[in-house]
Amino acid sequence: MAIELMTHQHKILILDFGSQYTQLIARRIRELNVYSEIHSNNYPVEKIISEKPRGIILSGGPMSVYDEGALTIDKKVFEIGIPILGICYGMQLIAKYNNGKVDAAKNREYGKVHIQILHEDELLKNVENNSIVWMSHGDYITKMPEDFIVTARTDNTPICAISNTTKKIYGIQFHPEVAHTKDGKKIIENFLFNICNCNADWTAGNFIQLSINEIKEKVGNKKAICALSGGVDSSVAAVLVHKALKENLICIHVDTGLMRKNESENIVKLFRDNFNIKLIFIDASELFLERLKNVVDPEQKRKIIGNTFIEVFEKEAKKIPDAEFLVQGTLYPDVIESVSVKGASVTIKTHHNVGGLPEKMNLKLIEPFRELFKDEVRAIGRELGLPEMFINRHPFPGPGLAVRVLGEVTKERLDLLREADDIFINLLHEDGYYEKIWQAFAVLLPVQSVGVMGDARTYENVLALRAVSSTDGMTADWFRFDHDFLEKAANKIIRSVKGINRVVYDISSKPPSTIEWE
Ligand code: XMP
Repeated sequence: MAIELMTHQHKILILDFGSQYTQLIARRIRELNVYSEIHSNNYPVEKIISEKPRGIILSGGPMSVYDEGALTIDKKVFEIGIPILGICYGMQLIAKYNNGKVDAAKNREYGKVHIQILHEDELLKNVENNSIVWMSHGDYITKMPEDFIVTARTDNTPICAISNTTKKIYGIQFHPEVAHTKDGKKIIENFLFNICNCNADWTAGNFIQLSINEIKEKVGNKKAICALSGGVDSSVAAVLVHKALKENLICIHVDTGLMRKNESENIVKLFRDNFNIKLIFIDASELFLERLKNVVDPEQKRKIIGNTFIEVFEKEAKKIPDAEFLVQGTLYPDVIESVSVKGASVTIKTHHNVGGLPEKMNLKLIEPFRELFKDEVRAIGRELGLPEMFINRHPFPGPGLAVRVLGEVTKERLDLLREADDIFINLLHEDGYYEKIWQAFAVLLPVQSVGVMGDARTYENVLALRAVSSTDGMTADWFRFDHDFLEKAANKIIRSVKGINRVVYDISSKPPSTIEWE
């Protein structure tokens, strides 16, 4: 972030050597209310000195410090008197540049390992002896760097933690930022507060203020547009960017006809009335339905919906000819990292560019959350005053209900699903389940079953209910409801929604199933 910090704001600088965990280090620091910035490994020492960070963290990395083209660091960093913590590759760099030696280990060490504390310095203060740490390395230090002592070892790694307390330089072979390292938080806390003497004053409010300044500077008096889906990420992004650009932010909400009950209405109401944000509402439901006619293949549905969305959005956006920027709520997990070894720098690519809109329309991106995780965006949303209903929303897929009406998508079937889904979700709220569940929804099956209502035989649709626990959607477990709740939900749906006479509950986990049915 290129930003003007309030002068008293303490900062930790993270130099990135390409570890998959670098963003996690930043996150752990933010969790402890300290501001941090990530820069590439070759960030100039002069800049570091002028920015006066309270401490520097050297991240891990996928290479060996002796590899040809290995990412290096300016040796002067070790002489400027700012406390340093080297993690994994970062520790090996400390060794290499301080007359130590690093060699390839016979066996890679990967996973959970117990550490033995040999000397409890400031960094390892209150870390339990024999506690579990997360290792992922193929090299290890074979000769100690000058003026350092060993502070911890493991069975396979005799030099697992080192320190030079006079220079305040510390190295650890394991990853404190990974949740598996039991006392990882303690170690980072020790570095921030015992060694760097940071203030714990970094908050969502600070983030908002800095982002507003940054966006203002970037956009000037140009215009930005935002595809507002109503999901957490785009909603929070829109409110944040609106604070910076006011009427120069124009949101566009496309009703695809595949939204949940009252969803588009609520979005329009919230953003226009509560936040006073310029919002163009487009009802494109007929067009989407027309194009989905007779389509049953899920991937085909996705393609049609994606392309139609771009077409509709683009047409509308072109009516704002001086828009130069596109706001996106891209989160860090949406970002794929790759280390460009040749250029000795880290390049980060996104894979969520609203179907390639920015390239196509020649728009520059504003992505205020590229470095954040979902729960952090939720905290920012709360700070910005978004209602809980928007903040705690379960994820909703881009193709919407089209992948939950199995088989052909028609207005009638969508309406049926909308009613049933609304009943299910409202009951989850009423019974205090909603926030315990990662994602819940109803699915309308392309199956009819026989039932009996009163004295009459019915032959109607089957509805499946799905609710899962998960942390990231990559794996998921089916949610264990109280049976009475399932009974209540099934009864209410069958009684209230004409056209559904049977409700089933999905007890498959992911893998081998997926969360959605299509
Ligand atoms: P699956 O069904 O793959 O879903 O286990 C994992 C998560 O991704 C969401 N999902 C999608 N999101 N476009 C999206 O934006 C899609 O085509 C799509 N398909 C699935 C799904 O809701 C779940 O949260």
